[in-house]
Amino acid sequence: MRQSSAFFFILNCCVLITLTDGFSFSNCTIYFPFEYSGHLKVLCNRMGYWKIPSPLPRNIVNLDISYNYIYQIAEGDFNRLSNLIILNISHNRISEIHANALSDLPNLEELNLSHNKIKTVTTKMLDGLASLSQLRLDFNNLEMIENQTFATLSNLRLVNLTNNMLKDISKLHPLLQVPHLENLYLGNNHFRVFNSSDIPSAFVGLKKLDLSVNPLTVFRMMENIFPALEYLDLSTCFQTNTFDWFILDKAFLKTVKILNFSRNHVDEKQLGYIMQSFPSVSWMALDGLQGFKVEMLLQKACFPSLRGLHLEDNQLSLLTDRIFKPCVHLNELHLRNNGVLKMYKSSFKHLVNLTELRIQKNLLTQLNETLQVLPNLRVLDLHLNNIENLACSDFANLTQLRQLYLHRNRIVTIESCVFKDLETLEELIMNSNQILTVTGTFKLGPRNLRYLYLTNNKLSAIQNDTFKALDSLQMLHLSDNQIFIIEPHAFAGLINLAEMYLSSNKITGRTLSNHLVFAGTPNLQKLELSCNYFAYESQQALQSPPFVLLSELRTLQINSQRRGLNYIPSNFLNGLKNLQVFYAGNLNIENLHVDTFIHTPNLTYLDLTANNLANRNALTSRLFGPISGLNKITLGRTHLKSLDFLVDANLSSLTVLRASTNDLQFINKTIIQSLPQLKVLDLQNNSFTCDCSNAWFIDWAVKNNKTQVLYLNKYECRYPLSLSGKSLAAFNTESCNVNYDFICFIYSSSIVILTLLISFVYHFLKWQLVYAYYLFLAFLNDKKRKQTPNLDFQYDAFISYNAQEEPWVLEELVPKLEDQHGLRLCLHHRDFQPGKAIIDNIVDAIYNSRKTICLITHNYLKSVWCSHEIQVASFRLFDEQKDILVLVFLEDIPAHQLSPYYRMRKLVKKRTYLRRPKPGEDTRAFWQKLKMAIETKENMEDRKILSGKDEDDHI
Ligand SMILES: *[C@@H]1O[C@H](CO)[C@@H](O)[C@H](O)[C@H]1NC(C)=O
Ligand SMILES: *[C@@H]1O[C@H](CO)[C@@H](O)[C@H](O)[C@H]1NC(C)=O
Ligand SMILES: *[C@@H]1O[C@H](CO)[C@@H](O)[C@H](O)[C@H]1NC(C)=O
Ligand SMILES: *[C@@H]1O[C@H](CO)[C@@H](O)[C@H](O)[C@H]1NC(C)=O
Repeated sequence: MRQSSAFFFILNCCVLITLTDGFSFSNCTIYFPFEYSGHLKVLCNRMGYWKIPSPLPRNIVNLDISYNYIYQIAEGDFNRLSNLIILNISHNRISEIHANALSDLPNLEELNLSHNKIKTVTTKMLDGLASLSQLRLDFNNLEMIENQTFATLSNLRLVNLTNNMLKDISKLHPLLQVPHLENLYLGNNHFRVFNSSDIPSAFVGLKKLDLSVNPLTVFRMMENIFPALEYLDLSTCFQTNTFDWFILDKAFLKTVKILNFSRNHVDEKQLGYIMQSFPSVSWMALDGLQGFKVEMLLQKACFPSLRGLHLEDNQLSLLTDRIFKPCVHLNELHLRNNGVLKMYKSSFKHLVNLTELRIQKNLLTQLNETLQVLPNLRVLDLHLNNIENLACSDFANLTQLRQLYLHRNRIVTIESCVFKDLETLEELIMNSNQILTVTGTFKLGPRNLRYLYLTNNKLSAIQNDTFKALDSLQMLHLSDNQIFIIEPHAFAGLINLAEMYLSSNKITGRTLSNHLVFAGTPNLQKLELSCNYFAYESQQALQSPPFVLLSELRTLQINSQRRGLNYIPSNFLNGLKNLQVFYAGNLNIENLHVDTFIHTPNLTYLDLTANNLANRNALTSRLFGPISGLNKITLGRTHLKSLDFLVDANLSSLTVLRASTNDLQFINKTIIQSLPQLKVLDLQNNSFTCDCSNAWFIDWAVKNNKTQVLYLNKYECRYPLSLSGKSLAAFNTESCNVNYDFICFIYSSSIVILTLLISFVYHFLKWQLVYAYYLFLAFLNDKKRKQTPNLDFQYDAFISYNAQEEPWVLEELVPKLEDQHGLRLCLHHRDFQPGKAIIDNIVDAIYNSRKTICLITHNYLKSVWCSHEIQVASFRLFDEQKDILVLVFLEDIPAHQLSPYYRMRKLVKKRTYLRRPKPGEDTRAFWQKLKMAIETKENMEDRKILSGKDEDDHI
């Protein structure tokens, strides 16, 4: 009974441990930022999982397990994740989903099962997903959808079945049971025939249908099965122009607004016929229709309702003046990749209402004022052409233009007149040209420009007042140029500028030595200066700190200076009183001056990645004094040896600490406790010592559910060498833990056992106990005696003998030794003090005599008291290492009879002893030897024997 309950208790513990919400122990990461603690996003992708990882935190809302090796989903895999709303299991090997496996997810809205190996959507596999609105099954091996599959999915809006092996439209009838289905993707399957009579009823609410990339030969609609359809994709469907197209009533598809009919093989006549089926289309794609006469095509396609037309990849190299005549109503025209070499002024003259023109990826070298006829243009995309020069008149008249894309051309210079009329222009992209200078370019505008991109050009200098006219500019991109001169007031007038990008230029310390470089940009919030060439020789304060005028700056990036910054001058950040984010990684910095951050009290993010902070004082707690609001700190690859500086740094708001790839060996409790808000800790790739000094950290990392220790299961021990390479998390900390319960248990059971033992001993071994007590007294006595060494003995010898030998003692021994030789003997019947305990008497007698003489007979060996006497004597013998024992054998005792008395046997083996002469033998020698034995002091040989050095103690 008791046993089974103990077993139950142990079992219970195990269950509790596996159910704790410690999430560090799996490979998954919790997506950061997760300020909304209720909306936990967990990423487990590309982690080699073969099954759904567990345990996962209960409150996950968004789980991504894509790119693993999961091959099935079984019932119960998600049983604790009832809060899940988004689940991505794409790119696995799932071929089987058990019935009800997903029924624990009543709140799931988005399920992505794409890129798996599912063949059949079975009836029960999606049961219980009452909230599901998006279902992705694209890129599977679907051949079959069972009846009733979608019967319970009343909220489903989108089903993606792209890229499967579906053949027969009639097999889609289970989808008819979805009452609110709006989007259905069927692209890239094996449908040959689309006939409405194969479908028993209408897709009432369907708005979007994608049938692209199916080998259709028949498209017939005898009933209006898509009464609400707005978007229809039939691209890459009809690969022979002998297909059967029949729509019973032209009104069937009148709701369709957007049609993609690209990359089909149709002749002009057929196209005209098909187009009649879409009387209300306003946006159409006819890309890649090779072999057409464009004029004929547009005559068929540009019917009055059409507003947007895609004509990409059609080889319209020559844009004649009649070509767009049928398309007068167009607002949007896309002509990407048509090999257009030349445009005429008259080409677009009919497109009076055109607002968006995209002619990207063609062969244009100049614009020739062709665009002047398009005064309503708002978006003009000319990127990826060969334009070298822009004339002053090219953009004249484009008074409505908002976006102008000129990137990836061959522009070298731009005169000020080019952009002067673009009063409404907001975004100008000129990346990746060969622009040498922008001096003067923007003198006259565009006045309302917000975003200017000049990345990847050949600029080397920015002169003063270059951008003065651009007072609406918010973003200026100048990265990837050769800029090494920035004159004072270069950015003057940019009063609304919020972001400036100057990375990857040739800016040096000289460039920044004048703080007026940034004059005139009082609202700058983000400044990127990474990958330049400025450096400092010391931490000494600068005469003119560069950023004093940037009081609104929030983010500053100076990382990766090509020659290493080496030192951050103590007042480098002076003036940045609103700075929140500071990137100072990869700068070869060895330490930071304690005043570095006194000017930036609002800093929340500090990145010092890849510096050399090996020195113990590289970072001090005082450094962090002024920035106690710090939220995230990144210290990866900095050769850091300890995090002790954090203990007194008072970083009570820190939520993310990253210090991977360092030389950290120990993380102790005080460090972690000094960071009460810590949510993410990344200590991958450090030199952990796996012993009890890290026990607290290991336990905490595994079990706590407030701080995520990133990739904990990849942390390895470096020390001790015997554990090198072993997993830190697997280190058994139990032996380190003082477990009070266990101690209590041991303590109380010991008491019980002891009580039992004592009663047992008292009952059965009472006398032995009494003897032990006396022996103990003897020991105490001996101690006392040692402190007061007494060299004058009261007796010369104590005679230990059995009562049966008394006659011989009294008649022969006493007269011989006392009377003849004048020795003083101690005899128990004569010299023991009456009233004193016998054992006390024995001890006194032995210690007050120089020698103890044992008269050994068979009876002597058997007698209790005699054996005590010999024990006390040999105790003294061993203790004082003196030869005090004289053995006199009064009878012959063979060696084997001595064996039970091992002490005796040992003595006999090692020492000479006396034998009483047999009757008739000469006794004089015997008495003489005995006298000498009593009188001799210890000798060296005895000492050696008695010190126990060569004893065989194992008898
Ligand atoms: C963690 O990922 C590795 C591969 O990156 C894998 O071998 C290991 O099994 C995973 N650990 C767990 C607990 O799933
Ligand atoms: C599926 O259900 C439909 C009616 O909902 C029925 O006509 C059809 O025979 C069923 N097919 C199978 C294979 O059960
Ligand atoms: C549908 O699946 C295709 C193919 O994987 C994918 O490209 C497309 O983005 C998906 N669309 C939606 C809305 O899920
Ligand atoms: C151009 O747009 C205006 C206003 O939207 C409209 O009144 C006019 O009819 C359009 N012109 C053509 C040719 O479609």
